[in-house]
Amino acid sequence: MLDLACGDGFLLDLLAAAGHQAIGVDVSSGDLVLARQRPASVAEGRAQQLPFADHSFDSCVSHMAFMLMSDIDEVAAELARVLRPGGRLALVLSGSAAGDDARALFGKLLRETLADVPAEQRLSPLGDKRCRTRAGLDEILAPAGFVPVQWRTEQIDFSGSLEQVWDFFSVTYNLFPLSESASSALKAAFFAEAPALTGPDGLIPLAFPVHLASTRSVYRGQ
Ligand SMILES: C[S@@+](CC[C@H](N)C(=O)[O-])C[C@H]1O[C@@H](n2cnc3c(N)ncnc32)[C@H](O)[C@@H]1O
Repeated sequence: MLDLACGDGFLLDLLAAAGHQAIGVDVSSGDLVLARQRPASVAEGRAQQLPFADHSFDSCVSHMAFMLMSDIDEVAAELARVLRPGGRLALVLSGSAAGDDARALFGKLLRETLADVPAEQRLSPLGDKRCRTRAGLDEILAPAGFVPVQWRTEQIDFSGSLEQVWDFFSVTYNLFPLSESASSALKAAFFAEAPALTGPDGLIPLAFPVHLASTRSVYRGQ
């Protein structure tokens, strides 16, 4: 099994514990330093040009990474190449904000902050929007030779205190390109506006939708 964009390799441990023989691949040498401290094997490489022979894997999983990748059609073609015919692909993709919770507020404040910062500090949008919907994902995967995806959406509840919800955003979003003063202004604006969202349980609601998509490569010539 391939763990595409394995990051620090947390999922590789879970896969090994479940009895799978898994290899991770990631482009980030920093993450791979951490992944190499685990028992599983990992390789450095880009999803657009995987360092594996044709038909090397029975299956591939990828958690919270596919929707961030550029040149996604190349990634789909590479996955079809390294999977054996009929091999399975399972993706966990982040969904869109609900519109009325802390994630929507954070997004609005982030956009306002970015409007005021110099171009080099802007966070460039990552990935391909088609990954946000089932039809869009099929549009990426079908030409590479995958059957239509099975698709399910789950809401993960990250509701918490003001500090917990802020911590979630500052870890989930890469704010690194922002200057210290821009990220402090963003934090101050969030701490001023987010308490109004507090529910009767004293927590700020935060639902994080994830899409679970699975498919398999077709048997060509059959
Ligand atoms: C949000 S992290 C998720 C990491 C891991 N799957 C997890 O769930 O903890 C996204 C990962 O995708 C990797 N990544 C992004 N683009 C990539 C590419 N083109 N090829 C390989 N890895 C890539 C990043 O280096 C990062 O480790």
